[in-house]
Amino acid sequence: GPAASVVPDLAGRRVLISAGGTREPLDPVRFLGNRSSGKQGVALAQAAVARGATVTVVAANLEVAVPTSVTTVLVSSALEMHKAMALAAESAEVIIMAAAVADYRPKTVQLGKIKKEDVGDTLTLELVKNPDILAGLSAARRPGQLIIGFAAETETDADRLLALGRDKIIRKGCDYLVVNRVSQHEGFGTERNSVTVLDHHGVIVNEASGSKMSVANCILDLIG
Ligand code: CTP
Ligand code: CA
Repeated sequence: GPAASVVPDLAGRRVLISAGGTREPLDPVRFLGNRSSGKQGVALAQAAVARGATVTVVAANLEVAVPTSVTTVLVSSALEMHKAMALAAESAEVIIMAAAVADYRPKTVQLGKIKKEDVGDTLTLELVKNPDILAGLSAARRPGQLIIGFAAETETDADRLLALGRDKIIRKGCDYLVVNRVSQHEGFGTERNSVTVLDHHGVIVNEASGSKMSVANCILDLIG
């Protein structure tokens, strides 16, 4: 079967992957979230383990199980993920930011449940920007460390999608950017994925479409 033919080309490599979607607390019982299931990040972890890597996953609210052979750090919010990634990055050779990180969080987290009685007919939330974890890790990159980001875009025009990816990798400063189109029907939460991988010049270095496992292996080929 395919498992028997896997080449251990990542033997001993230390790979750090963020997966899932962050939740930004509003009060003790509510949060702002997103549709990420964590399936692509977990597929990356599975594929990396199969190829011999030592894998850590910083996991935010996953809908799927992480293989037991992976070191898992559980987080929920973007700030928690920021801390956990900074710490784990110290010993990682390859970092893959597959998580959907909330761009903004509620400015204040209420200690008690928000009550309709206290709010009235309209509720306005004030949000503040979260730290850009990927840009921060890229700026702090050690020599030899490889950093891969993801870009989830809803743009339907292929050329404009690529242009967005090219702008994004320049802003992020990472080595590769995995661009994937998302909608309610593809990307987030689904079994399949379709991606284009750009290098730091914005040049297409790989394209993959299929199961999240085959997309994972295509991404890992960049580091093998
Ligand atoms: N990312 C991150 N920290 C954030 C926001 C995003 O590390 N606060 C990472 C994601 O994990 C992903 C990459 O940055 O690997 C791109 O995320 P994306 O949401 O596509 O890009 P943004 O820079 O947030 O831009 P926008 O959402 O406005 O398109
Ligand atoms: Ca974003």
